[in-house]
Amino acid sequence: MVKNIVLLGFMGTGKSIIGRRLAVELKYQFIDTDHFIEKRTQRRIPDIFSEDGETYFRALEAEAVSVVARWNGYVIATGGGVPLNKANVEVLKGNGILVALSARPEVILRRVQRRSGQRPLLNNPDPRAEIEKLLSQREASYRCAEIQVDTSDIPVEKSVNLIIDQIKPLLGTA
Ligand code: S3P
Repeated sequence: MVKNIVLLGFMGTGKSIIGRRLAVELKYQFIDTDHFIEKRTQRRIPDIFSEDGETYFRALEAEAVSVVARWNGYVIATGGGVPLNKANVEVLKGNGILVALSARPEVILRRVQRRSGQRPLLNNPDPRAEIEKLLSQREASYRCAEIQVDTSDIPVEKSVNLIIDQIKPLLGTA
C-alpha cells in the first residue's frame, strides 16, 4: 500500500501549491483538507468560522482528517491548525509520512495578504502580531514531522525537489 505524504505547516507556508506539484511529480492524487470540508459541507471556511465558530470548524476538520488519512497514495495538504489536535497527528502518521513546511512571519504575511479574506484567524487589525502569536503557540506541534522544509526564500519547484529528495529513502525507492 502506498503511504500518503502529509504536508503540515502554518498558513502561507505553501502547502497547497507545493502539494499539488508534489502530487504531479510523484503521480499521487492530491487532496486539501480545507477543500474537502468545503465540498462536504457546501460552505466556505470563513462562513463556518463566522457562523458556527472555531470549535465547530475543528470538529469538521478532525472528521475530514480521519477520512482522508485512510486513503492511500495521496499528497494531503492540511489546514494550519491540524496538528494542534494530537489525534489528527496520530491518524495521519499511521498511514503517511509527515512533512512540515515553515516560513518567516514577514513572508507568511506577504503571502496571505494576496488572498485576504480567506483566513478568518488573520482577520485582525494587526495580522503580523497575530501570525507571531499563533506561530509561537504552534511551533512545537509542527515538529512532529520527520521532514522539515523552510520555504521562505526558495521557489516552489525547489521545495518540491527538496521534499522528494528526503522522502525517497522513506518510500524505499531511492
Ligand atoms: C487555519 C488555517 C487554514 C484553515 C482555517 C484555519 C489555521 O488553512 O484551515 O482558516 O488554524 O491555521 P491554511 O493553512 O490552508 O490556510
